[in-house]
Amino acid sequence: MPISPTQDKLNKIVILNPKGGCGKSTLATNLAACYAQRGITTAIMDLDPQGSTMAWLKRRPADLPAIHGIAAFKKTMQATRSWQLRVPNDTVNLIVDSPAGINHDDLRDITRDATTILVPILPSSMDIDSASRCITDLLLVAKVDRNERKLAVVANRTRKNTRSFARLMRFLDSLGIPIIAVLRDSQNFVLSAELGIGLHEMQPHRVHRDVEQLDRIAKWLDGWSDRRKRAANVTGIRRQSFSKVSFLRRPQTGPA
Ligand SMILES: Nc1ncnc2c1ncn2[C@@H]1O[C@H](COP(=O)(O)OP(=O)(O)O)[C@@H](O)[C@H]1O
Ligand SMILES: [Mg+2]
Repeated sequence: MPISPTQDKLNKIVILNPKGGCGKSTLATNLAACYAQRGITTAIMDLDPQGSTMAWLKRRPADLPAIHGIAAFKKTMQATRSWQLRVPNDTVNLIVDSPAGINHDDLRDITRDATTILVPILPSSMDIDSASRCITDLLLVAKVDRNERKLAVVANRTRKNTRSFARLMRFLDSLGIPIIAVLRDSQNFVLSAELGIGLHEMQPHRVHRDVEQLDRIAKWLDGWSDRRKRAANVTGIRRQSFSKVSFLRRPQTGPA
């Protein structure tokens, strides 16, 4: 997905899971509102033809901090694709809301240049199975490097003490992928969708338990640059020790 090449420091957060209804748009809109409330210039790109994120943005009251919307799902004859997808130059965080049922090419395209990828997962067995396939595709098809630690899961509408949650934990543990938050099933999310606001913009006494979890997600997301540096160092160290090994094992070239 082309984004302006001048925006090296753009934090591109991709919310992805080919399963519909798992909470992608809920997460995308709430994170956007969370960042906008903090005064961070935020854009939200809606790749889903259902356009729920853009509809949420339309409902957003004018007196709340602005969020730039990019209706990437729309086909336009008037502009080139890269013009349509352009992100304003002062954008710090770009949140990408993806559609259901994406194929491998789209998966590669959407995750290219992502600094972080969040996969919201519902707790049912079927959802966990499809999410497991999605994570496998992210690693094998989109070639997301686990060492970069850019991939995380958000368990949505979940109670922690269930068998399916334990199974999800085991699967993710085996891959070293963290579950960074557990969002409960709450009418607050439904209300935020209806009103075009984020939970951070609702009465604190009503939403504090949910906001706590959203803040955990934002905190993990904010650490992307440090994680990337650490991953680069680890890769550097690996390369160094590898070159030592290959030096020591250089085949003898002298006479037999
Ligand atoms: N934690 C939650 N608690 C209650 N309702 C939720 C929660 N997360 C999502 N929903 C609701 O579930 C529906 C599907 O969520 P949505 O974010 O649109 O999923 P997706 O974008 O993955 O298709 C929406 O009506 C949304 O309001
Ligand atoms: Mg959606």
